[in-house]
Amino acid sequence: MTMTTFKVDIESGIAVVTLDVPGAPVNTLSTAVAQEFDGLLTRMEGDPLVRAVVLISGKPDTFIAGADIEEFTRLRTAEEATTLSRRAQELMNRVAASRKPVVAAIHGSCLGGGLELALACHWRVATDHPKTQLGLPEVQLGIIPGAGGCNRLPRLIGARAALDIILAGKSERAGKARKLGLADELVHPAILLDVAVRAATRLAADGPPVRKPKRDLAGMLLDGTAPGRALVYRMARKQVLSRTGGHYPAPLAALEAVRVSLSRGMEAGLAYEALRFGELAITDVSRNLVSIFFATTALKKDDGIPPGAAGKLAPVGRIGVVGAGFMGAGIAGTAALNAEVEVRMRDADLPRVGKGLRAATGILDERLKRKRLSRPDYQRLAALISGADDDTGFRGANLVIEAVFEDLEVKRGVVKALEQVLGNDAIIATNTSTIPIADIAAGAARPDRVLGMHFFSPVEKMPLLEVIPHAGTSARAVATAVRFGRRMGKTVVVVGDLPGFWVNRILTPYLNEAGILLTEGAPMEALDRVMTRFGFPVGPVTLLDEVGLDVAQKAAAVMHGAFGARLAPSDFVGAMTADGRLGRKNGRGFYRYEAGKRRGPDDSVYRLAGVTKAPNVDERWVERRLVYSMLNEAALAVADGVIRSPRDGDIGAIFGIGFPPFRGGPLRMIDSLGAAQVVRTLRELGDAHGARFDPAPSLIEMAERGGRYYPET
Ligand code: 3HC
Repeated sequence: MTMTTFKVDIESGIAVVTLDVPGAPVNTLSTAVAQEFDGLLTRMEGDPLVRAVVLISGKPDTFIAGADIEEFTRLRTAEEATTLSRRAQELMNRVAASRKPVVAAIHGSCLGGGLELALACHWRVATDHPKTQLGLPEVQLGIIPGAGGCNRLPRLIGARAALDIILAGKSERAGKARKLGLADELVHPAILLDVAVRAATRLAADGPPVRKPKRDLAGMLLDGTAPGRALVYRMARKQVLSRTGGHYPAPLAALEAVRVSLSRGMEAGLAYEALRFGELAITDVSRNLVSIFFATTALKKDDGIPPGAAGKLAPVGRIGVVGAGFMGAGIAGTAALNAEVEVRMRDADLPRVGKGLRAATGILDERLKRKRLSRPDYQRLAALISGADDDTGFRGANLVIEAVFEDLEVKRGVVKALEQVLGNDAIIATNTSTIPIADIAAGAARPDRVLGMHFFSPVEKMPLLEVIPHAGTSARAVATAVRFGRRMGKTVVVVGDLPGFWVNRILTPYLNEAGILLTEGAPMEALDRVMTRFGFPVGPVTLLDEVGLDVAQKAAAVMHGAFGARLAPSDFVGAMTADGRLGRKNGRGFYRYEAGKRRGPDDSVYRLAGVTKAPNVDERWVERRLVYSMLNEAALAVADGVIRSPRDGDIGAIFGIGFPPFRGGPLRMIDSLGAAQVVRTLRELGDAHGARFDPAPSLIEMAERGGRYYPET
């Protein structure tokens, strides 16, 4: 047999097997790799020179990233998928049953099928390195661990801890994994192989360890007894339902797989696991989640310009941030934390700078507190952030991001001032959510180096960044901003320079419609309930309170001005701001707030707007009005060229506003409904509520020719 993926070195009875899938950036367990591994196991079993095996990866930062997700996209039937899972389980069973002990030497990502393989091994040594992560992310792909994970993990670490990992699709760092009993030893990367070989030698002599679960009293009661486990399952189920709203079948299936395994034994458990894996792998939910994985991965390599167009780029080593307010501080703190660059903040006076500096380092404090940063790393990163009330310190910056007041003249002034101090190659980015970038760049001496970087609030938490070139922005500026955004940990989409760009464009009619519904007396809590049931993390009224009513009102006015009657807002939000209600930030919004905590709806707001609150509302119709206003706007924006591909649009909607991932994004949703159906519903809505629901001409055209945004799979 020709060995392509596995290299074997045998010394003193220990076979060190190095897994290195040729030409692939990470190791995955494709069918071909699994077959080769199966053959290798036969060889090891039969080789009298081998007493034990160490399995290690030849890739720099991955042990094994799991099964090959690409293969899932080719599965057509549940039976095929069940067979795939069965084969993987058999391979893991073979490892577990091997008379020659197998030790997993883990550095880097050890995920999904990779962890399932490690779990089948007899001993696990992991490196104490931030890149080492052990987890079962399958539910994030709409499936369950299908190579024995639902069976082996709870047996190793107990039902409670296992469900905690499996149901959330979580990964644990090595330290936590060691505490849980997932890893047996923790070592520095430099001695990983030595320690693993020593463990293998020991196991070859003494046999595999007899494991007894380490349990405290609560563990004994909850994990160690049937009634205790029943309680654990009940609580886990409740938690899953409240987190997923019942839209994601995988976590519940995984829960059941764990229950079947622990109550009926491993054989029944594995059969059940494979069956459910098979069912889930071919669902639309899983297909949509898998497509999000590939879209996000593709965006990691996409600089937003044709390959090579920017020439060679110097990496950004130092940035400036103008405006030390909430956004500016968020940008500064996140840049220091994730991109690890020097950050210089500037504001008009020192007290503001001080406040900004505190807020920026507050992001690091939070990580330190949650033990996501070590104290030395914290000190090193905090030292990267400095501030002043003038432009000193901007010299030498490769990128300056302005996050000042949303006013064209003020922003133009900032750009002009920056041009006086910055080097020739430095890029100037403006963090605006509504003002056209071309207008801001118009007064610049070098408009080619000006572009938009639209961050979402709070910057350290929100995963999306829109990069917005205007017509004259250079390819170099675009690629520099995109790459830097990625270093900040963001998923970056490059979008067109039209008002609202992409995310706020599709959000505007949705929030407007919520306002119009409120003026009709619709109960705010019903609007929020309808949309969270649809799958959004929060409903539109809560979102308005969170964004800030003044901000929302201003943005709505800009969009109305740009697009006319279709995007006319109701007067409701205006009535609220006139009363000094700004939302959560001043504790007065649609909802009541006490000591920062949200209480119930504040029904007095209806009186402010001269409206009587209705006792109820047709929730199905409300859902249609809200959702279709967004779908229609998405179609209009696509036709305007705001996004480069449906992929960018869907990722932008999912990461920017929490569009339900299981629906795949607004454009995928249009595809799965069918353009003809979307047009029909929009016409019905138009008949009832007027021209703002007129279907986008591109949708009508798509409906006529049976078109789609994505090719049919
Ligand atoms: N299958 C197929 N391709 C994969 C893959 C996988 N499991 N994991 C990563 N890749 C590919 C990516 O698509 C990308 O391909 P490309 O270069 O051709 O575009 C390449 O590997 C590099 O990936 P990233 O750009 O994401 O690299 P990062 O270094 O940023 O991240 C990672 C690495 C943390 C491993 C990340 O890729 C990841 O999270 N991968 C998916 C992990 C996962 O979900 N595993 C579970 C799979 S399902 C399973 O195992 C079922 C089992 O229970 C039977």
